[in-house]
Amino acid sequence: MNAKVMEASLNTTDSNTDDFFAAVAEKSDGTVLRGDYSKIDDQYVVRQDWDAYTPEQHALWRRLYQRQAKLIPGRACDVFIESLEALNIGDGIPRFEESSAMLFKATGWTLVAVPGLVPDHIFFGHLANRRFPVTVWLRDPEEFDYIVEPDVFHDFFGHVPLLFNPIFADHLQDYGKGALKAMKLDGLGMLARLYWYTVEFGLIQSPEGLRVYGAGILSSGGEIEHCLTSPASLRLPFDVERVMRTLYKIDSYQETYFVINDFQQLFDDTAPDFTPIYARLKALEPLPANTLLPGETNLSLK
Ligand code: PHE
Ligand code: CO
Repeated sequence: MNAKVMEASLNTTDSNTDDFFAAVAEKSDGTVLRGDYSKIDDQYVVRQDWDAYTPEQHALWRRLYQRQAKLIPGRACDVFIESLEALNIGDGIPRFEESSAMLFKATGWTLVAVPGLVPDHIFFGHLANRRFPVTVWLRDPEEFDYIVEPDVFHDFFGHVPLLFNPIFADHLQDYGKGALKAMKLDGLGMLARLYWYTVEFGLIQSPEGLRVYGAGILSSGGEIEHCLTSPASLRLPFDVERVMRTLYKIDSYQETYFVINDFQQLFDDTAPDFTPIYARLKALEPLPANTLLPGETNLSLK
């Protein structure tokens, strides 16, 4: 899953586009963003040139898909499993337009193709308007297990199935609106942690036990098992303020996962005005990713 770039992107409060590229150019390996940004419109949207994908790329997608599909039963949440099946994307890199039409019928969201990471205000603007940006390029075969920037496999396989759940879909739109607001309140760093520990790495209760809904886990070959079974990580009940105070790992499995009871809890708990929360939490030191505070209980694994 992505690393520094995503954090830089999520944490920067500057909506200036030049700063976006500058921040991204500061990646530790000195390389620049790998997408082709020469054909973007003013919302950073491009055409998905589906015919340009090679047979090798479709074959790589199939391999990625098949590895994850085997791991999904008993680990991913129900909506993910059901929507993934309905999307029927196992044969090759999907045509965004086809899936977008299905998604629109279900929850009123559409998919837009983007060259890769986009500036904060653009990304949140898409979410606020029920558009999910999906990167067009696929990782190289050497990146089968680990990818530095989000690619089409992470963005599509990991994120799109969840958007078929109406409550989660409404939540993500509210997140987009809330993030645009947070940019003016110096709260984006805290909202980035919320996104990280829910949309990317969230766990959810089910009658049959813990399940995964976070896209960063669902598109990962290793973390999907680790997050549910490893005693090396903590699993804590979801709490908005606790999450917004907690630092996260960008280059290893998460040391703490936060568990929601259901998507309604995620929606309801994030509905209140965050303005006073940002003001209060700003005065506190953030917590390391492996913190267990006095009185907190690490959820036991059944
Ligand atoms: N309720 C938050 C606010 O008022 C907005 C928000 C909604 C943030 C959902 C994240 C998720 O700022
Ligand atoms: Co993601």
